[in-house]
Amino acid sequence: MTNFLFVSDLDHTFVDHDAGNDDARGELSDRLQQHRELHGTKIVYATGRSPQLYRELQSEKNLIQPDALISSVGTEIYFDNSDIPDPDWSEILSPGWNRELILSITAKYPELKLQPESEQRPFKVSFFLEQSEASGVLSQLELELQKHKLKKKLIYSSGIDLDIVPLSSDKGQAMQFLRQKWKFAAEQTVVCGDSGNDIALFAVGNERGIIVGNARPELLQWHNEHPADYRYLAQNFCAGGILEGLKYFGFLQ
Ligand code: GLC
Ligand code: MG
Repeated sequence: MTNFLFVSDLDHTFVDHDAGNDDARGELSDRLQQHRELHGTKIVYATGRSPQLYRELQSEKNLIQPDALISSVGTEIYFDNSDIPDPDWSEILSPGWNRELILSITAKYPELKLQPESEQRPFKVSFFLEQSEASGVLSQLELELQKHKLKKKLIYSSGIDLDIVPLSSDKGQAMQFLRQKWKFAAEQTVVCGDSGNDIALFAVGNERGIIVGNARPELLQWHNEHPADYRYLAQNFCAGGILEGLKYFGFLQ
């Protein structure tokens, strides 16, 4: 067995929020930790949550300590439980990012409801946007932001969450930053997810991908439109689906 880079979304991927449905996470966590000790495998969480909401989930679910945390939809990277985001990554995101200008434009859209303060981050502006209004609002907003030549990206997830982040960031680009830093080949890297903000993890390159069995329609639709033999659609939900995929790719036996 050789080491690999394990990168997983948390909500509804690594963590199953359905009561009594999260038994597989214990086994997955044990096996990953063992692999880390024996082979130097690295464990990374890639979440949309801010560090604050991440910590709440970590203590509530007693999550194993990752080697790095990608938080706020890929706009912040933390090593070894540090409180300070990696400055090299922040530097990559800064050019052309104008948070105030984005806020002044989005203020004109009554359909966009600001998410809680904790989820507004230096490189992330987040709203709730109802699915029924999403396609109209998103295309109009995209055009308007483009007029101002803003280097940004709109990420819509789970039929409700809209994140606006720098063009140079998302979970996929943050994952590749770590992969290159730690010198893992794409073939020795596996990414796992369930929803819209995870598409970037699967789309950025040819890292091995595991889509959990409970994935959201927006991710399944993207997967069907972009089939690839290095991506696996699991039967099982959440951690059970991850275990299934790790065995499929031969990372675990
Ligand atoms: C998490 C974050 C939220 C974000 C969503 C989708 O729920 O807390 O701010 O919009 O993920 O990326
Ligand atoms: Mg998720």
